[in-house]
Amino acid sequence: MKLYHFLTVSFLTVILYSCSSKQDANVSYTVNLGIIPAPNNVLDKNKTSALKDVKIALQSQMNPDFYQQLISDIQGVSLVDQSKANVILTEFKNLEKEGYQLTIENDKIEISAGSSTGFQYGLTSLIQMVQHHGFPLPQVVIEDSPKFRYRGMHLDVARHFFGVADVKKYLDYMAYYKFNNFHWHLTEDQGWRIEIKKYPNLQEIAAYRKETLIGHYNDQPHKFDGKRYGGFYTQEEVKEIVAYATDRNINVIPEIEMPGHAQAAIAAYPELGCENKKYEVATKWGVFEDVFCPNEVTFTFLEDVMDEVITLFPGKYIHIGGDECPKEAWKKSAFCQNLIKKQNLKDEHGLQSYFIQRMEKYINSKGKQIIGWDEILEGGLAPNATVMSWRGIEGGLEAARQDHDVIMTPGTHCYFDHYQSESPDEPVAIGGYTTVEKVYHWEPIPDSLAEDKRKYILGGQSNLWSEYIKAYSGVEYMVYARGMAMSEALWSSNKDYTAFLPRYMKHNDYWKSKGANMAFHVYDLKPMVDAGKGQPVSISFMIPEGTEVQYSVNGGASQKMDTQKPLDITENGNYAFTAGKDGRNGKPLLLDFDLHKATSATLTLEHDAAKQYAGNGPGSIINGIKGSDEKYGGTEWLGFDGVDAIGILDFGKPTEINNVNFRFFKGEGQWIYLPKSIEVFGSEDGKTFTSLKKISEIATSTKIASINIDIKNNQTRYLKFIATNYGTIPEGSQGAGHKAWLFVNEVVVK
Ligand code: ACM
Repeated sequence: MKLYHFLTVSFLTVILYSCSSKQDANVSYTVNLGIIPAPNNVLDKNKTSALKDVKIALQSQMNPDFYQQLISDIQGVSLVDQSKANVILTEFKNLEKEGYQLTIENDKIEISAGSSTGFQYGLTSLIQMVQHHGFPLPQVVIEDSPKFRYRGMHLDVARHFFGVADVKKYLDYMAYYKFNNFHWHLTEDQGWRIEIKKYPNLQEIAAYRKETLIGHYNDQPHKFDGKRYGGFYTQEEVKEIVAYATDRNINVIPEIEMPGHAQAAIAAYPELGCENKKYEVATKWGVFEDVFCPNEVTFTFLEDVMDEVITLFPGKYIHIGGDECPKEAWKKSAFCQNLIKKQNLKDEHGLQSYFIQRMEKYINSKGKQIIGWDEILEGGLAPNATVMSWRGIEGGLEAARQDHDVIMTPGTHCYFDHYQSESPDEPVAIGGYTTVEKVYHWEPIPDSLAEDKRKYILGGQSNLWSEYIKAYSGVEYMVYARGMAMSEALWSSNKDYTAFLPRYMKHNDYWKSKGANMAFHVYDLKPMVDAGKGQPVSISFMIPEGTEVQYSVNGGASQKMDTQKPLDITENGNYAFTAGKDGRNGKPLLLDFDLHKATSATLTLEHDAAKQYAGNGPGSIINGIKGSDEKYGGTEWLGFDGVDAIGILDFGKPTEINNVNFRFFKGEGQWIYLPKSIEVFGSEDGKTFTSLKKISEIATSTKIASINIDIKNNQTRYLKFIATNYGTIPEGSQGAGHKAWLFVNEVVVK
């Protein structure tokens, strides 16, 4: 129950003390310096500085516009001539490129760094201190450098287009939190967004779609808005953005998708596809079968595109996509089948590998390196490729084992298009559930990776796919809160969520004061409902130290919850819980408990739910709360990855069972399928089970299939159920070839 303990602080103090050479100083990390990401070594002298303002003289290589903008709304910081400065910038070449030392003394401040990046980060920390700590500043020595050298943020500008001013805002946000790589997702099925002068149809045709899907992809039937939509960046605009990023020491990585997610380009130049037909820019989301044909026309096109792209981006990397490329068109194409034979390839995956390797060779010949999504492992990795692991961490681990560089960006922690709250009034998102806290605790290098391979994990990245984000205010909502947590996950070695929260509050207020559309969910309660253990259902919360929780039942009086112990749920009805601290509250958590015969039974599952969709353990599916009708992430639904959902309920004694109701989630766009069948069995001894009923036709026109099984008056101590996984996802569907997910909640026994 008491979750964030003081141990962390004292442990940290020991670490910092041991790092310090100044024996007289009192080292402490309890002071809230206001800096995000938290610096790695802070020596707090427990004295305040007499300085009443901060006057910075920039060095010649620093862009005054950037710094002017950074300090524009902060009292007490100014840019001045050298003679008036009280902040001394000292070159110290021995510091690593992104590292800095910031020393605040009684009457002056010194920042040492070995590069313009180090100075930028030192100044950013100082400016954040003035902003979020204020005067008097504490006398501290901060020695700081990042945990990971790659700290990325991705933005999809293809599903929805964000203009130059918006991208600049994104870059400002990145700079403020010391991110150093902007992954610019420029081409997609739904739009091509970068001007390529040699191919005008990309601007005239591929940059626009005739209309756009309304609502969520899983809402059936699909409806469209009937409005032409699109846009692209001219090469002058691209240069402007790259220069803006460079001024902030941010590298820009353009992504030109191939061989899949290319329908817009193929609509503009149909000879790039495998079939002789009319193609159109996609109007809905998903994965499309019309992919680049690996013919010479395509390679010439892509090499020409690269020639122009490479001149615009000074950085080392070009991202070539490589994800989600269905192989249907290649299977049907005589040309592709011949090419497979001619090149002695195993199959279409070999052809994908051939495609990527050929483009890698070209890009390498121009002095650049490729990055690809983890599908580029299939059929053999291109020799110099860096792998971006998104479908989990396995692709990244495999690439590292093969001595390839890796950027970790698993959907579970890094996809900011996922929901961040279980509140039903959240703006529509693709799915999932990724909170600020979950992002905060993310570790890009899993324990399972061998010591000698860890160096290949360059860092991590958040991704923002924009299917459901139409305007920049949506970007702010999805990114700005979780981005702070991500910055600390990628920078700070000594993470402590309890120490992060007060800083987070200050930063949240700052962005709000600038008009940003901030999501504020850190006090939203995540219920831990304990069930399935043969005891009454109870609820507790994982909350930061000092948080208070109030609750009411069925609209009755509000009472303070004793958060030191779980609260037993003994009556049915609507429960409302609200958490808060210092006058800030989270959204009320509304839970409708409908206790039934299984809620106090013991549940054993044959296969565990997948780690990322494990709710609060197996009992989540018999705890008396129905999972959301709209979202499968969160604490109620259990997600089974490619396996059957098989459970045995033990009621403790023979019990009359009349009816069992199962709810399943359908979200085929997210690879979630209904089960093929559901069967229930009874048993007296838990060993020999007799089938009571089987249902094989399971369908729904909504996202939820609610399946009722009547088994009147059956006296049974044990009840077993088997919901059979759909199996392999068929060709032509999203996730084709992968095993389907099966999501269950709730199993109601009456
Ligand atoms: C991806 O999310 N398709 C990389």
